[in-house]
Amino acid sequence: MDWWRQAVVYQIYPRSFADSDGDGVGDLRGVISRIPYLAALGIDAVWLSPFYPSALADGGYDVDDYRDVDPQLGTLADFDEMTAGLHARRIRVIVDIVPNHTSNRHPWFREALEAPKGSPARNRYIFRDGLGPDGAQPPSDWVSLFGGPAWARVPDGQWYLHLFAAEQPDLNWENREVRDDFTTTLRFWSDRGVDGFRVDVAHGLAKNLVEPLEPQAGMKDPIDGALPPGTHPLWDRDAVHDIYAEWRQVFNEYDPPRAGVAEAWVHPSRRPKYASPDGLGQAFNFDLLEANWNAGEFLRIITDNLSDAQRQGSSTTWVLSNHDGVRHATRYGLPPEEYRSRDNARKWLLSGGTSPRLERGPGLRRARAALLLVLALPGSAYLYQGEELGLHEVPDIPFELVQDPAHARSRGAEKGRDGCRVPLPWTPGGPSFGFGPGAAHLPQPAWFGPLSVEAQDRDPASTLVLYRQALSWRHKLQTAESMDWMPSTNGQVLHFARPGGWRCVTNFGPGPVPLPNGTVILTSVPVEGNQLPADTTAWLLSS
Ligand code: GLC
Repeated sequence: MDWWRQAVVYQIYPRSFADSDGDGVGDLRGVISRIPYLAALGIDAVWLSPFYPSALADGGYDVDDYRDVDPQLGTLADFDEMTAGLHARRIRVIVDIVPNHTSNRHPWFREALEAPKGSPARNRYIFRDGLGPDGAQPPSDWVSLFGGPAWARVPDGQWYLHLFAAEQPDLNWENREVRDDFTTTLRFWSDRGVDGFRVDVAHGLAKNLVEPLEPQAGMKDPIDGALPPGTHPLWDRDAVHDIYAEWRQVFNEYDPPRAGVAEAWVHPSRRPKYASPDGLGQAFNFDLLEANWNAGEFLRIITDNLSDAQRQGSSTTWVLSNHDGVRHATRYGLPPEEYRSRDNARKWLLSGGTSPRLERGPGLRRARAALLLVLALPGSAYLYQGEELGLHEVPDIPFELVQDPAHARSRGAEKGRDGCRVPLPWTPGGPSFGFGPGAAHLPQPAWFGPLSVEAQDRDPASTLVLYRQALSWRHKLQTAESMDWMPSTNGQVLHFARPGGWRCVTNFGPGPVPLPNGTVILTSVPVEGNQLPADTTAWLLSS
C-alpha cells in the first residue's frame, strides 16, 4: 500500500521550529536536533514549509532558488543530514514546491527586468502593457489575494501579474522552459531522497490571459461552484492537469513513487482530478479548517470527504490547523458565531485577542477531542507544529512587528497569519523558551512557558502526552480504509467503528452521555465512570 494513504504528517514551519545558532530564525540543524522528539511523537512523515533562499516577503513562499537552502537556515549538506536522520527513524520527508510564482529576487525575474518588452526573459512571467493613453493603468482591475492590485509596474512601463505579494511574480506556465525547470527541481529533491511534495497553490498555474481580461467583478469565487467548472480565468482550469500529468511521470521514475499533495482551493467536485493517480495523488481537504465544533458539521464533512476520496481512488487528508489559519484550539474557544467565518476570526485577531472573549480551557478541551476524532478516521492526518502542545493563536503581536504581507497589503484590514507562526516553546524559560540561544524572530507570549515541551513531557495529563499516546495506538490499530457509523450517532454524538474492533465516540453536546460498551483505551480528558462528558472523545476496543 502507498505509505502516504494513512500517514500522520507533521508540518514543520522551519523558521519557527528550532533555532540552533541563536540568530532568532529556526534552521535545519534545529530540526536535526529535534529528530528524537519527532520520533517519540510517533509521526510517519514531516512536511517542511519552504526553507529555500528567500527575502521572506511571504514567509519563504517567495522563493529565490528552488534548489538550495537559505544560508540562514543551513546548507544542502544539512538538508541531507536531516533527511538521513529522519529516514533512520522511519520518518519520511515532504518538501513544499511553490510553482505559481517565484520571488522577485529569482535570477529569472532579475533577468526579466533587465530584458526588453517581448523578450524570452519576460515571457517566463506574465508581463502586459498597461491601459490608458500612456499605459499608466494596470492591464486589469484584478486584486491580489493579499489585498491591493494584482499588477505592479516596472521602470519601462510594463506591468507584471502577482496574485499574491508584489515580491511574488506569477510564472507563465505556457512556457516550456518554466515547465522543464520545475521537473528538474522535482528530480533534484527526489534524487536527494525526498519522499513527496506539497504543491502550493496547485490550482493557480494555468491561466486564461486572452485579452480583453475579464473584470474582477465578473470573477466569482470558483470554490462555491457559482461558475461552470474550469471557466475561471485564473483558478482551477483544466489545463493545469497537463502539468501534473508530467509531474506524475517524474514521480513514477522513483521507487517508491514520489508522493504529491495539492493545496487546491477548489470546489469539492473538482478535487478528484488533483488527487488522481495520474496527477498529484492526493489533495488537501480543508473543510475542518473552517468548520465549527458541531456534530452535524463534522458528520457531513467526514461523510462527504470519505465518499469523495473513495470515488477518486485516493485517501483524504484531515487538517485541523496549518500555517495559514487561526489555530483550532482558539477557533473552538471563540463563540461559534464569532469564529464561523474568516471575517469574525479576523476581527478577534485585529482586537489583539480581546474581543470576543476567548475561552482557553474549553477551546483546548474541544481541540483534544477533535484530535482523537480525526486520528481515528481513515485517511491521512496533517498536524501543524505546536498543536501537540495545545497552543492557542498568539493574537497580540504588536502591529509594527507583524511580518505577514497580508497585513500591510490590506492596509491593516488583516492582522495576518503570524499568530500561528510564533516560534515553539521547548523549555519553560530562557531567552526564547528553548527555541534557540537568542531571542525569537517573533515575540513569544509569557503563557508559552508552561506549555513548553519540557513542561509537558512528564505530565501524564498534558496535550503532548495525549498526542504521543494517540499516535502510538493509531499505529497499532489503523487498518483498512473503512469505517461504519454506529446507531448511537445523532445530532450530538458521533460514534463510528473501524475494522478490528476500534471504535471512536465524540460527545459534542453540553452534557454527559452514556459511554458505549467496550474497553476504553484512550480519552481526550480523564473520564471516570461510564459517562462520556461534554466535549470529549473516547477510543474503545470492542470486547
Ligand atoms: C499558500 C501558502 C501560503 C502562501 C501562499 C502564496 O497558500 O500556504 O502560506 O502565502 O500560498 O505562496
